[in-house]
Amino acid sequence: MTAFERALRPVLFRVGGGDAETAHEFTLGRLARLGERTRAVLRRRYAVDAPVEVFGVRFPNAIGLAAGMDKNGVALPAWPALGFGFVEVGTVTAHAQPGNDKPRLFRLRDSEAIINRMGFNNAGAAALAARLGALGPIGVPLGISLGKSKVTPLDQAVDDYLTSYRLLAPYADYIAVNVSSPNTPGLRTLQDKSAIADLLTALRGDTPVLVKIAPDLTEWAVAELLEVCLSHGAAGVIATNTTLSRDGLAAADQALAAEDGGLSGRPLTEKASKVVHFVRTETDGRLPIVGVGGVMSADDAARLFDAGASLVQLYSGFIYHGPALVRAAANVPGRAVETR
Ligand SMILES: Cc1cc2nc3c(=O)[nH]c(=O)nc-3n(C[C@H](O)[C@H](O)[C@H](O)COP(=O)(O)O)c2cc1C
Repeated sequence: MTAFERALRPVLFRVGGGDAETAHEFTLGRLARLGERTRAVLRRRYAVDAPVEVFGVRFPNAIGLAAGMDKNGVALPAWPALGFGFVEVGTVTAHAQPGNDKPRLFRLRDSEAIINRMGFNNAGAAALAARLGALGPIGVPLGISLGKSKVTPLDQAVDDYLTSYRLLAPYADYIAVNVSSPNTPGLRTLQDKSAIADLLTALRGDTPVLVKIAPDLTEWAVAELLEVCLSHGAAGVIATNTTLSRDGLAAADQALAAEDGGLSGRPLTEKASKVVHFVRTETDGRLPIVGVGGVMSADDAARLFDAGASLVQLYSGFIYHGPALVRAAANVPGRAVETR
């Protein structure tokens, strides 16, 4: 057991009487207030120098923070100190929005899993742009994840993404187009061939644009989407978002399985790896892959790299295993996947 698992995790899991979102906000607040001296101590302990270059961007190491952890970028300087080689903020939307009613975030502890139906709670693209403008560079590449505002009808989605893109692309090393969250009604239909083609056409510019896909698509649908990504200048694919499946849960978590939302963590490990492998096989290295889903150990990260990922992101694994997992995953050898 690491010090985090032994000492810090039990405390954090008790914050707010065990309410996961209260613990999340508490932890983000603490991380946001870390001083440079503390960050320097953490950096010495956790930062890993194992550079890779993917879609023309140089990363100090291949392990990133997945979208959703720091939606509004409030704790940005903390993440590189905790070992992350890149950070994806967001998902943000053109309009600020409160997200779904609480409770909307649940830990399934025996399964090392999380169910969330946050619904893109965020302060909006303009607020994030203002924060990033004031903060300046964070020392590692920054990805910015864009989603559709709930108030915007699906047929106006492109303009909604474009509004956020114009505000935020100047601060981004890459833009992630989130069309795969299960928690915004209709959003996943934007993964359809013509919708994603329109979106990629509108967002064409100097900033690399990656498409984040759901793990619940059929192989046929993924293949079709990849074709559009290749023909419309996408810089890569992020695979995967959370799943609607409830397979792989421990008996003790069966009651929580009934909660609506996307499932992440250990039950997603196998599925995410299969999607990454499929994307790799279909695209033959022409489209770099950011692998994400159920990385709970350095071995899981190694498996995603083996399956074809050039970069790997963590969310649930960080909640359950803390920064030692980031360091261990960043030290996995053989990360540099050839892409053409
Ligand atoms: C509470 C929570 C919020 C999330 N919010 C977002 C989000 O806003 N945008 C997004 O693209 N993915 C979001 N995700 C999905 C993660 O980025 C990631 O794709 C997924 O959790 C699988 O990785 P994991 O098993 O390491 O958690 C969220 C995940 C969780 C658990």
